[in-house]
Amino acid sequence: MAREQWKSEWGFLMAAVGSAIGLGNIWRFSYLAYEHGGGAFLIPYLTALLTAGIPLLILEYAIGHERIGSAPLAYAKIGRRWEWLGWWAVCLTLFGIMLYYSVVIAWCLDYFFYSFRLAWGDDPNAFFFKRFLQVSDSPADLGEIRTPILYGLIAVWFSSWWIVYRGVQRGIELASKILMPTLLGLTAILVFWSLTLDGALTGLKAYVTPDFSKLANPKVWIDAYSQIFFTLSLGFGIMIAYASYLPDKADITGNALLTAFINCGYSLFAGIAVFAVLGFMASAEGKPLAEVVTKSIGLAFVAYPKAMSLMPGGNLFGAVFFLCLVVAGLSSAVSIIEAFVSAVVDKFDAPRGPLTTGVCILGLLGSIVFSTRAGLLWLDIVDHFLTHYGLVLVGVLECLVIGWFFRLPLLREHVNRISSFRLGAYWDGLIKFFVPLVLLLILAGDLYQDVTEPYGGYSWVALILIGRDWLLANLALAFVLANRPWRTENHRRRG
Ligand code: PHE
Ligand code: NA
Repeated sequence: MAREQWKSEWGFLMAAVGSAIGLGNIWRFSYLAYEHGGGAFLIPYLTALLTAGIPLLILEYAIGHERIGSAPLAYAKIGRRWEWLGWWAVCLTLFGIMLYYSVVIAWCLDYFFYSFRLAWGDDPNAFFFKRFLQVSDSPADLGEIRTPILYGLIAVWFSSWWIVYRGVQRGIELASKILMPTLLGLTAILVFWSLTLDGALTGLKAYVTPDFSKLANPKVWIDAYSQIFFTLSLGFGIMIAYASYLPDKADITGNALLTAFINCGYSLFAGIAVFAVLGFMASAEGKPLAEVVTKSIGLAFVAYPKAMSLMPGGNLFGAVFFLCLVVAGLSSAVSIIEAFVSAVVDKFDAPRGPLTTGVCILGLLGSIVFSTRAGLLWLDIVDHFLTHYGLVLVGVLECLVIGWFFRLPLLREHVNRISSFRLGAYWDGLIKFFVPLVLLLILAGDLYQDVTEPYGGYSWVALILIGRDWLLANLALAFVLANRPWRTENHRRRG
């Protein structure tokens, strides 16, 4: 069967932006910016974007487009012995990230409904942890499934299933063309609304006032680079798959630049609303700003709800806010499922419809563990290991395999033949040396921290059994899939 293609480059761009803009843009970015020197954080952030994010995004677009395949196929066409790396990327993303990412979207969906009646009452903290999640004492103590989360989860998997089921053009492209402009519109409403609140300017000041002294701390730079990889959905095989659906002639570098700038621009823009609201809350409660800012999850599910209870029309504001999170999350979820589906279609010639159904049922079942009372704890551990080790490792290997076992100048020529922005030879150097080096430094830093002190205060047993083994189980699965015989001739085709 002929390979599916995007109807237009605009559709591709919207789909790629849909993957990039996700939950991470809204709370992860704002929190990092606040914690790491306000406006000064822009320096490491933009440096990371220019020196690693964009070069790697171009690499993923280029390899998907030039080799015409999802990650496993693209790697198999570089050399059969590298196919496992593609599988590891897509397996980690689907059976790792997606299993808990879908649960967080489910929380957002539940909170969308709670917003209308400000269901969290006057203690959002107790509501979130004790009533909504009912967090248990240890990861081993699973407890029962939380039904509101399960319902949300079913809705999330069902909607993503429907979009991916309908295929590249009629599903993902169409959905992205509707969802992304909607998201931007909704976010703009939040931003302008938040600016009218008392105290908004105090919050904004904290957001933009640079504290350059923070830049001396290497942790700030490490966090900036990690955030860039996560936010651009790099190392997951997603952008490789999406680029493989582009027609022969497509502006690779132009689209990479646009994707990156829209994504990061969105983060900066949404940050305005986040900080304006925090400023409002600080002034309404008569507390200093530092006391109302909380870390990622708490920001969305504790600090924000609190502010909504204090704000005139806060229930509507809350509904729009959580709707934004749902939309941002769903379009990323779709990209995760597609990266895997696309890989299986490429290799085993499986029919998209039934395959998508199977993958989503499996995914729904797998994510149930994260909807139990220990869900938050599992989520925290798996997320830590996946984003700090899995993703980073795949990224390093990606640069090394493509950089050293494939001819980068060839790839660059391919890109330059069809693109608007010309890539110079410096790009080869970034991919071969600089990006892997930075990633290895991040890896070493995290490893050092994690062996000196168990992450998050969990027991070593829990960390090893849940975190490390999650990575290894996916690695084993990747090897199994890579060693199955090809059911198509795709890997023999040129290009
Ligand atoms: N880029 C998404 C975000 O910022 C996260 C994501 C990771 C999306 C992996 C897809 C795959 O939230
Ligand atoms: Na993002």
